[in-house]
Amino acid sequence: MTDFAVATADNALMQKLSGRQLFDKIGRPTRIVAPMVDQSELAWRILSRRYGATLAYTPMLHAKLFATSKKYREDNWSPLDGSDGDRPLVVQFCANDPVHLLAAAKLVEDKCDAVDLNLGCPQGIAKKGHYGSFLMEEWDLIHNLISTLHKNLKVAVTAKIRIFDDREKSLDYAKMVLDAGAQFLTVHGRVREQKGQKTGMADWETIKYLRDELPKETVFFANGNVLYPEDISRCMEHIGADAVMSAEGNLYNPGVFNVDKTEDKDKTFPRVDKIIREYFQIVKECQESKASRTAMKSHFFKILRPFLPQHIDIRSELATMNAKASWEEWEEKIVKPVERVVQDIFEQPDIELKDKIMVGEKQPWGGSYRTVPYWRCQPYFRPVNGVTGDKRVMQDLTDTDMNRKRKADVLLESSDKKKDVKV
Ligand SMILES: Cc1cc2nc3c(=O)[nH]c(=O)nc-3n(C[C@H](O)[C@H](O)[C@H](O)COP(=O)(O)O)c2cc1C
Repeated sequence: MTDFAVATADNALMQKLSGRQLFDKIGRPTRIVAPMVDQSELAWRILSRRYGATLAYTPMLHAKLFATSKKYREDNWSPLDGSDGDRPLVVQFCANDPVHLLAAAKLVEDKCDAVDLNLGCPQGIAKKGHYGSFLMEEWDLIHNLISTLHKNLKVAVTAKIRIFDDREKSLDYAKMVLDAGAQFLTVHGRVREQKGQKTGMADWETIKYLRDELPKETVFFANGNVLYPEDISRCMEHIGADAVMSAEGNLYNPGVFNVDKTEDKDKTFPRVDKIIREYFQIVKECQESKASRTAMKSHFFKILRPFLPQHIDIRSELATMNAKASWEEWEEKIVKPVERVVQDIFEQPDIELKDKIMVGEKQPWGGSYRTVPYWRCQPYFRPVNGVTGDKRVMQDLTDTDMNRKRKADVLLESSDKKKDVKV
């Protein structure tokens, strides 16, 4: 570094808020939209904020491509990203080279509240590209990446890590990340090998151990196992985290963040027709955001996951749609048909009886499964120890007539289930 560069870096450091000051400045958010490739783009963040999210992360962006390719930037970052309606915002990058990381981060530092380093991605593409969780053994490199941003960026640097099998090693790892300058730390309580069919449950006890052992002033976010709004407060209380981050819980049900309105099922398990309409409208309003348009089909599939097996004509139409289809086509082939179907359901005389959320018994993991009618957004359950979530829910129910009917619905749905994108 030249003397001038050192002086500039020192100056940037002196003007920086501490993690705690920054957390206070952005309103002490407690409900966070996780970074999700092709899924936590602008339109989705706007929808999620309306349903209770108080902080959002962008999808992981590839730092080298972002810094060097205009096309990549245009595809992934629009003039609307990070604007007034899209704050507070953390922009996440994956990287293995401090020069590229800093160059990329500089391009967004005026449009976000912090820049995050992805240290959790476990996918083959991350192994090949040498980033995400495949840096977990290279502590010097990680330290260098984080401290370069800490010293040279106007905004804070943060990091999202996975855990190791060994708690003490996880703690040393977290300490190293903080020592390098990370101002918020997100801990996803799974090890690198927990992905795809092997995802299983996140380990809240290890997350809690890290929270307890790290300095009190550390701004600490917990990630993993959130299915319902109640799980957010349960997680915060159990772990003592400042906030809880959700990925899949949020993707399948944006209402998961509505912690203040847990009695209002239209807020916590919104009707799929209403959410589809609202989200579609937001995407149309975000036309400058290519990423929002590209991600739309995948979001439709996730929002409609419980609904589509019951209405396979709409599912077939959705499967044939592509991002280039006109707004009118989306409206006529998907949005309106879903609205018509759900409207018909709500005209049935016994709808009050059918439109019930049922809470199961308390489970060993601390929360309870719910059965939710298929016309409402609801969580996707990952298999745990080879048992699918839907079967776990069914085991948990008592056999009232109502439940028997639901069982039939759920079994029909599971027999028809299709897996879609999982990162
Ligand atoms: C579709 C999808 C995309 C994801 N993309 C990213 C990403 O870009 N960056 C990242 O750090 N984690 C990513 N993740 C992981 C999540 O942020 C989160 O750590 C993980 O899903 C566990 O949280 P959950 O139990 O709430 O799903 C992704 C997860 C999903 C489901």
